[in-house]
Amino acid sequence: MRLYLLVFLFGVSWARGVDWSPNYEQPEQIHLSFGEKTNDIVVTWSTFNDTTSVVRYKNYGESEWQLVMGSSKVFIDGGQMKRPQWIHRVTLKDLAYDTRYNYIVGLSPAQSAPLSFKTPPAGEDWVVRIAIYGDMGVNNSMSLPFLLKDVEQEKYDLILHVGDFAYDMNEQEGRVGDEFMRMLQPLAASLPYMTCPGNHESAYNFSHYSNRFSMPGAESNLYYSFDVGPIHFISISTEVYYFTEYGLKLVVNQYEWLKQDLAKAASKVNRAKRPWIILFGHRPMYCSNSDDMDCSLEYTRTGYLGLFGLESLLQEFGVDLVIWAHEHSYERTWPLYDNQVYNGSYQHPYTNPRAPVHLVTGSAGCREGTDRFIKHPKPWSAFRSSDYGYTRFAAHNTTHIYIEQVAVEHAPGAAEGDVIDSFWLVKELHAPYIGI
Ligand SMILES: *[C@@H]1O[C@H](CO)[C@@H](O)[C@H](O)[C@H]1NC(C)=O
Ligand SMILES: *[C@@H]1O[C@H](CO)[C@@H](O)[C@H](O)[C@H]1NC(C)=O
Ligand SMILES: *[C@@H]1O[C@H](CO)[C@@H](O)[C@H](O)[C@H]1NC(C)=O
Ligand SMILES: *[C@@H]1O[C@H](CO)[C@@H](O)[C@H](O)[C@H]1NC(C)=O
Ligand SMILES: *[C@@H]1O[C@H](CO)[C@@H](O)[C@H](O)[C@H]1NC(C)=O
Ligand SMILES: [Fe+2]
Repeated sequence: MRLYLLVFLFGVSWARGVDWSPNYEQPEQIHLSFGEKTNDIVVTWSTFNDTTSVVRYKNYGESEWQLVMGSSKVFIDGGQMKRPQWIHRVTLKDLAYDTRYNYIVGLSPAQSAPLSFKTPPAGEDWVVRIAIYGDMGVNNSMSLPFLLKDVEQEKYDLILHVGDFAYDMNEQEGRVGDEFMRMLQPLAASLPYMTCPGNHESAYNFSHYSNRFSMPGAESNLYYSFDVGPIHFISISTEVYYFTEYGLKLVVNQYEWLKQDLAKAASKVNRAKRPWIILFGHRPMYCSNSDDMDCSLEYTRTGYLGLFGLESLLQEFGVDLVIWAHEHSYERTWPLYDNQVYNGSYQHPYTNPRAPVHLVTGSAGCREGTDRFIKHPKPWSAFRSSDYGYTRFAAHNTTHIYIEQVAVEHAPGAAEGDVIDSFWLVKELHAPYIGI
C-alpha cells in the first residue's frame, strides 16, 4: 500500500523531537532481497528505538518520491543482556523492470543517505549474473573489497550468500551481527542479497538469521525458492539435519516442501519456460577436505536410515546445479550421482551431463582461514583450490551457464583477483536423469 503522508510523518518525527536520539533512531544495516517476484524489492533494516518503517523511492529519472510504509518487529538477542533492536521491512511492490531506483530509508533527521538499486529485466530471456560465496566473517573478509568493486561496476543482478555469516552474529550480545550487517550494507543495499542458513547461525534456534534476513515465500526463511530469468533457485537449510534439538519436524517439513517445490518447477509448463533448476544449501553433499569429519557425514545426501535423503530428489527432478559452502575452499565436481561420475562425454563432461554438477564455494574469508584437501582427490573431484575467493555465475540463456572462480589472494607471484577456474555448463535438455 502506498501512502502519501510525507508531510504528516515529518510532522510526527519533529513533534517527538524532545527525546529524539539520533543514534537510536538512525536506520542502519540496510539490505535488499527479492519479494514474491523480482520486481518486488524488500528493504530490511535495523534501528535501536521503535521508529516508523518507511521508505521513500523514485524512479531514477523522475522527480516524484513515493512513500511506502512497512512494519517492524522487535528482535531480542538471546544473550544475557537481551539486547533489543527493531527490524523493519518495507516491500516496494510492482516496480518497473530493468529500471534504476533511488531510495531513502527512514525520515529526517533519522534517515539514510540516498541509496540506489536496479530492478532486473522482465521475463526469462536475459543474462542473470550472480556473485556466489559462503563463509564470510566480520574479520578477515578477504573477498569483500573485490565484491564491492564488482558491485560498483554493476557486474551482478544479485548475490547468493550460501550460509555462515559474521562469525558469529550472536557473539558479543549480538553486536557482531550488527557489525557484520553494517559491513554488508554497501553490497546488500544495492542489490538483492539472497541467503541460506549455515551452522554459524545455529544459536538461539537460528533467530539472528531468521530475524535479520527477509526471504520470499515459505513460512520461515530456513527454506524457500524464487525465480529469476531462466532459473528456479531453491534455498535449503542443511542445518536442520544437524541441529536436531530444534525439531526433527523441520527435516520432515523441508523435505515435503522441497519435493512439492521441485515437482512444480519440473512440471512441463514451468520447465519449458524456466528450465534451469539450481539448489543451494550450506553443507556440501560432496567435498574432499581434510580438516575434519564434515566431508564424511552424509545426512543431507542419504538422510537418516535412508529416509529424507536429498540426493535422490536431485536425480528424480533433474536438478542442474547444486551449490554449497561450509568448507573454506572451492571445489568443482564432474557430473555426479551417488559417488559415480556421469560425464556428458569424456571430451565434454559438462555438455548434456547425466547427473547434477556440485560446486563448493566457501572461501569468501573469515577468522577461521581456509581449508586444505585430502591428498588424493576422489574420482569425482574436477578442480580444487584453497585460495580465498568467490564465484561469478552467468546464466546466458536456457542452454548455457558460465561459471568462474576468482581468487583474491593466492600463490606468490600471481596477481590478485585472478580467475583460477572456469567452465560452461551446457544443457539442451533439462529433465530427470533417470533413463538418460
Ligand atoms: C531508545 O533506545 C535506548 C537504548 O535501547 C533506550 O535507552 C531508550 O529508552 C529508548 N527510547 C525510547 C523513546 O524508546
Ligand atoms: C575481530 O578482530 C579483532 C582484532 O583482532 C578482535 O578484537 C575481535 O574480537 C574480532 N571479532 C570477532 C567477532 O572475531
Ligand atoms: C525453531 O524455529 C523454527 C522456525 O524457524 C520452528 O519451526 C521450530 O519449532 C523452532 N524450534 C524450537 C525448538 O523452538
Ligand atoms: C569425466 O571427464 C573428465 C574430463 O575429461 C575425465 O578426466 C574423467 O576421467 C571423466 N570421468 C569418467 C568417469 O568418465
Ligand atoms: C546461449 O548462449 C551461448 C553463450 O553465450 C551462445 O553460444 C548460444 O548461441 C546461445 N543460445 C541461444 C539459443 O541463444
Ligand atoms: Fe559452516
